[in-house]
Amino acid sequence: MTVIELLKQRRAVRNYVQKPVEDEKIVKLLEAAVLAPNDRLREPWHFYVLRGEAIERYKEAARQFLEERFPTKPHLVKDSLAVLETTPLIIVVTSDIVEGDEASSEDNEYACACAIHSMWLTAAELGLGMVWRTRGVGLVRDRRSYDLIGVPENRKIVGSLFIGYPADEVPATARKPLEQKVTWLNELKA
Ligand SMILES: Cc1cc2nc3c(=O)[nH]c(=O)nc-3n(C[C@H](O)[C@H](O)[C@H](O)COP(=O)(O)O)c2cc1C
Repeated sequence: MTVIELLKQRRAVRNYVQKPVEDEKIVKLLEAAVLAPNDRLREPWHFYVLRGEAIERYKEAARQFLEERFPTKPHLVKDSLAVLETTPLIIVVTSDIVEGDEASSEDNEYACACAIHSMWLTAAELGLGMVWRTRGVGLVRDRRSYDLIGVPENRKIVGSLFIGYPADEVPATARKPLEQKVTWLNELKA
């Protein structure tokens, strides 16, 4: 498969069958991640691999978070948590914070985004489904996930990757035409 074919095939997969992901495949995802480009080779990432009981504890933290956030919407809380019943693997990705250097900290996050995309493509190649979550049960912006997982102060959570064997086929998502997103410049006005 060519890279462009793989890019077209990759989807955000949110539903999984109840089957564990083999250790060898998890290692392949992590090996792909650390090949990502990163400024000055800081290798600014860390990966927390959650399975089994760890996911049960994560689910409890997510429940608390959602109940606080949506106190009048119990159905929303219940529906949002349902995905955690069938997710066999969560990889929480952190980016190193460079104290007193906002630009480097920002570049570190870009590098982590590259690493996550490499994992996403590798997951697709291995027949796994994955989604990068930041909102809701992604718990990216909630203190609870830091405490639960033991993420130190100098690392920022940039994504929770939910991974498993896909339960269904996910239709392709549309993209706007390039003309709306690209400006070709052969000469500049100013
Ligand atoms: C930075 C980032 C954060 C995302 N956060 C969420 C999320 O919290 N929940 C979710 O269901 N999907 C999330 N997604 C997945 C997108 O919704 C998904 O990529 C988009 O709908 C396009 O679908 P596709 O990936 O299948 O092309 C996120 C994607 C990115 C890149």
